[in-house]
Amino acid sequence: MSVAVHVVDHPLIADSLTRVRAKDTPNALFRQELERIGTLLIAEATKGLPTGSVSVETPLTTTLGRQLSSQPVVVPVLRAGLGFLHAAQDLLPNADVGFIGVARDEETHQPKPYVNKLPESLAGRQVIVLDPMLATGGSLAHTCHLLLERGATGTIIVVCVLAAPEGIELLRNEGLELAVYTAALDERLNEQAFIVPGLGDAGDRQFGSPA
Ligand code: PRP
Repeated sequence: MSVAVHVVDHPLIADSLTRVRAKDTPNALFRQELERIGTLLIAEATKGLPTGSVSVETPLTTTLGRQLSSQPVVVPVLRAGLGFLHAAQDLLPNADVGFIGVARDEETHQPKPYVNKLPESLAGRQVIVLDPMLATGGSLAHTCHLLLERGATGTIIVVCVLAAPEGIELLRNEGLELAVYTAALDERLNEQAFIVPGLGDAGDRQFGSPA
């Protein structure tokens, strides 16, 4: 079991990330930039998906093409993970989508689950989890255990914008098999378990504060 962390180094990601971090970026632009980062990260994260050969007739002749051997299951973690969903569905239009809702308790920082809407069986499916923030890792660990309960096998792909070292360590201690694709590995968590330097609350910056 291992947690591989891929910090995707791309000038367009870096450019968008700067606007996503900036506190004065309006919510509409924040969502646009987040989605752009999601597109680039998901393209990188899906590089290893298996393909098979198929015959294709062009207007001129017959040749060999490749197509995805199977369709992944994409799982956005509510709410912030919704910011990557359009990007994922653009790139993987035939993927199934499952939903996990987890809210982090503001006092204890523990995950409080409120939605679990996954396909009946995940056996043999490549699962791609979408959640922009990997802070303490509690929400992602909770999500991964729900995926394993549904029969997920192999390496779960995780797409986030920011990850904290503390969260990566927790996931390693949980014995999960993950490939994390992130725009940046930030320095640390602060006393409120927010990622520093971070970008604030990715859910609130997309959808406003629920309180
Ligand atoms: C945030 C974020 C992650 C989680 C990360 O969600 O979107 O899901 O916290 O923190 P963790 O790694 O410490 O668990 P939040 O609970 O704020 O809900 P929201 O997406 O609805 O804003």
